[in-house]
Amino acid sequence: MQKYTFFLKYASFFVLLSQILLNLSLIMTLEDYIEQHSSPESDILSQINQSTNLHVLNPHMLSGHVQGRLLSMLSQMIRPHRILELGTFTGYSALCLAEGLTEDGELVTIEHNDELEDTIRHNLSLSPLGNKIRLLMGDAKEILAKESYGCGYGYSYGCGYGCGSFDLVFIDADKREYCTYLDLLYPHVRAGGWILADNVLWDGHVVDPAYDKEKQTIGLRAFNDQVANDPRLEKVIIPIRDGLTLIHKN
Ligand SMILES: C[S@@+](CC[C@H](N)C(=O)[O-])C[C@H]1O[C@@H](n2cnc3c(N)ncnc32)[C@H](O)[C@@H]1O
Repeated sequence: MQKYTFFLKYASFFVLLSQILLNLSLIMTLEDYIEQHSSPESDILSQINQSTNLHVLNPHMLSGHVQGRLLSMLSQMIRPHRILELGTFTGYSALCLAEGLTEDGELVTIEHNDELEDTIRHNLSLSPLGNKIRLLMGDAKEILAKESYGCGYGYSYGCGYGCGSFDLVFIDADKREYCTYLDLLYPHVRAGGWILADNVLWDGHVVDPAYDKEKQTIGLRAFNDQVANDPRLEKVIIPIRDGLTLIHKN
């Protein structure tokens, strides 16, 4: 009898394990399927994707092939004159978003990790679109609070909100600060402009009570609630990758 219970226990464990593995392989297959049925990355983006995975810590932070194509397509639909990005990492998403810029358009991107600066500048130099991208090194919150970051080429300090109006903003820096970012950048987004916020589902932690005390989860939940409750904003969470919110400023 004891032997029988022992056998049953192990048998059910292996059934569960094989189900998990089957689900996992199904997810992998779906991811592959989605990639294969989406436009490919350009050679330059593929090169940046690969070198980030080989040489940079936490390469999973890069937007990647499918989300990159979505960023590019949204940008091409909006045709922004000015884009602001918070959180450059290795420049992948900046180059994707820049694909939709108008002829004389500009993308301003902010990154605080000094160790990434050479890599970012190198990656941007690989593409002709790199000429349209201005990298600001520093803390996103501090730079946003200065109100001078958006004043075009050869910008000077103190030229006011008006000249810093953006058509599209991509929020992808410190997850604990998303609410502050939104408050600070909101006046800089033109009426009718668009905001994208990445990682808003945070690997599902936003609905998992086990993460109630985790600071990034707390920050993202607060941001999601703030956006949901703001009548000035139209919004939809796109469940791609780690969750991407598309926001329209009325
Ligand atoms: C998820 S990664 C960005 C990925 C990139 N947008 C892409 O899709 O390829 C987040 C980046 O934000 C940067 N970051 C984090 N906190 C920041 C802050 N307070 N100010 C500026 N950058 C910050 C990190 O160093 C990291 O490079």
